[in-house]
Amino acid sequence: MSNQKTNKNHLKYRFPPIIIGTMRLGNWGANLSTQEREKFIDACIDRGLTHFDHADIYGHYTEENLFGKVIRRRPDLKSKIQITTKCGIKLVTPNRPTHAIKSYDTSKNHIIQSAENSLKELGLDVLDILLIHRPDYLMNPHKIAEAVEHLKKEGKIIHFGVSNFSTSQFDLLNSYTPLITNQVEISLLHLYAFENGTLDQCIKNGIRPTAWSPFGGGLLFGQSKEEKIINIQKELQLLSNQYNASIDQLLLAWLYKHPSRIIPILGSTKIERIDSALKSLDIQISREDWYKLWQAAKGHEVA
Ligand SMILES: NC(=O)c1ccc[n+]([C@@H]2O[C@H](COP(=O)([O-])OP(=O)(O)OC[C@H]3O[C@@H](n4cnc5c(N)ncnc54)[C@H](OP(=O)(O)O)[C@@H]3O)[C@@H](O)[C@H]2O)c1
Repeated sequence: MSNQKTNKNHLKYRFPPIIIGTMRLGNWGANLSTQEREKFIDACIDRGLTHFDHADIYGHYTEENLFGKVIRRRPDLKSKIQITTKCGIKLVTPNRPTHAIKSYDTSKNHIIQSAENSLKELGLDVLDILLIHRPDYLMNPHKIAEAVEHLKKEGKIIHFGVSNFSTSQFDLLNSYTPLITNQVEISLLHLYAFENGTLDQCIKNGIRPTAWSPFGGGLLFGQSKEEKIINIQKELQLLSNQYNASIDQLLLAWLYKHPSRIIPILGSTKIERIDSALKSLDIQISREDWYKLWQAAKGHEVA
């Protein structure tokens, strides 16, 4: 059996239609209190949005612990939520005094220790998905696969995947250990995944791409002097009237249109914005309207 088939058979994972990002919940954004974080988590669960995206580094290595505070108070949450977290970036921060330079580390030891630390911080027994956060120029796929095998055998992770990997890096690692997703930046401000083979590769491998910063990190909402953003916003405004939909809903409907079945990771910390986002699931934009937004983002028509 080919690797591709073997890998497909291992990858039966059901994501909700939206993943909730946690990067901005703490000191990289909204600075939610434990009570506010708990309320936010409960509200997401009530809406069927049970998958939360973390990374060891969020909030300079503080977010997993703050989220874990809620789980420790409310152990019932353990059976209601799924967690992705990431490892492999080393930030220079007082919280990691041994880090002398920003660097990547995908050594076997680092992956295992980082996953175990994430479990401890989050107050969990198992991680649903562990991702390598960014491709490490020194990565050894054989050693990474050993770390993954160890963590799976110990019951500490269920699935493994990558983030920000090129198609060749993905192919290489996927031939050693099955990858559940490639989490990449996708929005009208970042079209690379459509053009560099990332989305094609996900379809071919029978996995779903997960999209970070689907609203361009919020840049697509504010006033801008950048011509590209102004052009996109003009087109969005026209379509907003046509579809009777808000800008955020159109941005997500535009992603959902792609056959790779992109799953957006929302970064909002406000439940009313999550509610609005959920309505995008009912919007079917036409091919021509999809290309109107593509053209606005590119600044020229397709060939
Ligand atoms: N793998 C990676 O390398 C990587 C990199 C970056 C992020 N991520 C993941 O992706 C998640 C999402 O990234 P992101 O936060 O950049 O995503 P995003 O959803 O594109 O941007 C979120 C920002 O947009 C604002 N926003 C959302 N809806 C808005 C609206 N209707 N009007 C005005 N502002 C609005 C939010 O503010 P409010 O809170 O006020 O709504 C927030 O500041 C992160 O939490 C993290 O989990 C992964």
